[in-house]
Amino acid sequence: MTTFVTGGTGKTGGELVQLLHKNNHSVLVASRSSIAPSPLRSVVFDWFDPSTFENPFKAAQDIDKIYLVAPPVFDSLPIVMPFIDYAISKGVKRFIHGSSSAMDKGDITDGKIHEYLVDSGVDYAIIRPTWFIDNFGTFYLSSIRDNNEIPSVAEDGRVAFVSVKDISQAACDAIVSPESWNSEVFVVGPKLYSYDEVANLLTNVLGKKITHRRLMHEESRAFWEKFGLAPNYAAMLTEMEAKIADGYEENIIRSSNVLTGKCTLED
Ligand SMILES: NC(=O)c1ccc[n+]([C@@H]2O[C@H](COP(=O)([O-])OP(=O)(O)OC[C@H]3O[C@@H](n4cnc5c(N)ncnc54)[C@H](OP(=O)(O)O)[C@@H]3O)[C@@H](O)[C@H]2O)c1
Repeated sequence: MTTFVTGGTGKTGGELVQLLHKNNHSVLVASRSSIAPSPLRSVVFDWFDPSTFENPFKAAQDIDKIYLVAPPVFDSLPIVMPFIDYAISKGVKRFIHGSSSAMDKGDITDGKIHEYLVDSGVDYAIIRPTWFIDNFGTFYLSSIRDNNEIPSVAEDGRVAFVSVKDISQAACDAIVSPESWNSEVFVVGPKLYSYDEVANLLTNVLGKKITHRRLMHEESRAFWEKFGLAPNYAAMLTEMEAKIADGYEENIIRSSNVLTGKCTLED
């Protein structure tokens, strides 16, 4: 049986397809460009072009599981729902949804998808990672490199930053598990850090002073918009980051359904 991996050229999806392949699990990679690392098979798949939704099922007749990464838009359920319905009609039995610690079931964007999957009665696992360690090499990279700062609205809040490797391992475990989890699971790193502490770590590693710049909310929204995100999506990210300041992410590690990865920021 085959697992179709949306976002399969991205951060978590890219690691996941390699893990599944190493486990001799049949994988089909989704990509708008249809380029996947050899020897993996891929198909053209674009959330904004529903005519591509049938491509995976033409390429592989035995898809029974899907790793689902929604497009980065504020209200993604109306875009994703027709594909979920179509996939179920084609025999897909289990969805592994790459969601977020900050989005509860029913919340906008991934929380709505979470709710839809539960209500649909299909087997599922909701992977809810906290903020990625890898963000310091992506979203924050140019701020760190060019301005010697990490901008955030997180104030003194702490996050158990998690590695894409640990998130992908959790998704892989949910896929290969003989029994579907049918639950949500938070995925966190083993150690809490404030953004000030991250800045100190980077100062030591890089040999130049890095500071945590405390943003006003409108500055944060402008920061996220620079990545081409729509204003409402950028505002949502600012609100999610502000939850760090309120202790939300720190409290996650005390939840009952937590998987703790191995990687720390020091690795
Ligand atoms: N960064 C964080 O701190 C954080 C924390 C918690 C949760 N999350 C969430 O975790 C999930 C997984 O994140 P990730 O970092 O693995 O994702 P990512 O790397 O940002 O995903 C990029 C992938 O999405 C695909 N993609 C982009 N637009 C597409 C479209 N229109 N149609 C089809 N595919 C499209 C890209 O494929 P192609 O370019 O090949 O088409 C690429 O493979 C996301 O929902 C993210 O919001 C992130």
